[in-house]
Amino acid sequence: MKHILNFPEKFLWGASTASFQVEGGIENCDWAEAAREGRVPVCGAACDHYNRYESDFDIAQKLGHNCHKISIEWARIEPEEGKFDMEAVTHYKNVLNALRARGLEPFVNIWHFTLPLWFSHDGGFLNKKSAARFGRYSEFVAKEILNDVKYVVPINEPEVWVTNGYLRGNWPPFKKNPWKLLIALRNLIKAHKASYYAVKKYHPDALVGPSKDNIYFKATNVNPINQLLAAFMGWWWNRYFLNQTKKETDFIGLNYYFYSPFGPKEELPKTDMGWGIYPEGIYHVLLELGRYHKPVYIMENGLADATDSKRKDFILDHLFQVYRAIQDNVDVKGYLHWSLLDNYEWVFGFERRFGLVEIDFVTQERKIRPSAFVYKHVCETNTIEKEL
Ligand code: BGC
Repeated sequence: MKHILNFPEKFLWGASTASFQVEGGIENCDWAEAAREGRVPVCGAACDHYNRYESDFDIAQKLGHNCHKISIEWARIEPEEGKFDMEAVTHYKNVLNALRARGLEPFVNIWHFTLPLWFSHDGGFLNKKSAARFGRYSEFVAKEILNDVKYVVPINEPEVWVTNGYLRGNWPPFKKNPWKLLIALRNLIKAHKASYYAVKKYHPDALVGPSKDNIYFKATNVNPINQLLAAFMGWWWNRYFLNQTKKETDFIGLNYYFYSPFGPKEELPKTDMGWGIYPEGIYHVLLELGRYHKPVYIMENGLADATDSKRKDFILDHLFQVYRAIQDNVDVKGYLHWSLLDNYEWVFGFERRFGLVEIDFVTQERKIRPSAFVYKHVCETNTIEKEL
């Protein structure tokens, strides 16, 4: 029988983006430099969202969203150390006004992976001064841009960033050194705290929290080594950063994409990234976050699916698991799909299509994918339907 499942009142529904992945025209950051050196794909004009944000937000509004996550590009705001660009400030203020004018509650991410060149050339987050530098940038953003912004995310996915940059070595700064990974992560923890207090200084009522890249680490048999590995990774990847920043976290942002099995692997349908689709994982990860007794906003959840053949079920199946976690008392207050637009998927360039809206990167034409209308129905009714 079909059941209609209600989400809590005032639940926030929307989508997320990140500056470098959509804006276009950012040449003074580490990823642009790496592209010039031929080490990562060129981002160039991306979705030209820097110029098209108003019409893109028209689409989000039309799709029934009531919130939206952007990130601010550090290299635009502080192109040289301690020198701030007021044109960039005006731009982001206009962006926030454009969101509010369309009834989209903004979530503002202060940093999403890309670093200004002056900062990356001076050791990035290995530098002892890095947390203070990030604090100074955050303070400027708080003072000049964050008026009336309720939700602020200093740092996106700390573990993904340090692992790719300092262990796998496939993202700038292309290092393979676990010791450096640890230093960078420790500095990100300090940077989060510095940013938290900088935001609170100007906006004591703003809610500040990280976007955490939690994974469901699952031991798929009783082998004690697998059990141990799953437990260790849960602590190290999912909870270490949160444990260290508990006091400076008003809410937890969750980015959930997949599970990671220890032991025999289950056969799963795959996204265009090759990631197994495992909706139940979001339920377990949410339950794990329940121990912090903080509100949770799902800040990213989505898939690369160029043909849009799996996105509808992906969304509905994950939302059913979110609903279950809410029934089990996890205080989930919002869901933001990744992403509104197809975008620059880091080392994969523009080939992996995460958008509710398809982008033709030659003509910049936007085309709403069919699954976006299924999600629209969810957003507008605050419900999902489920055969139970
Ligand atoms: C990141 C996004 C990325 C998405 C899909 C997250 O790790 O925050 O920048 O595009 O996953 O891979």
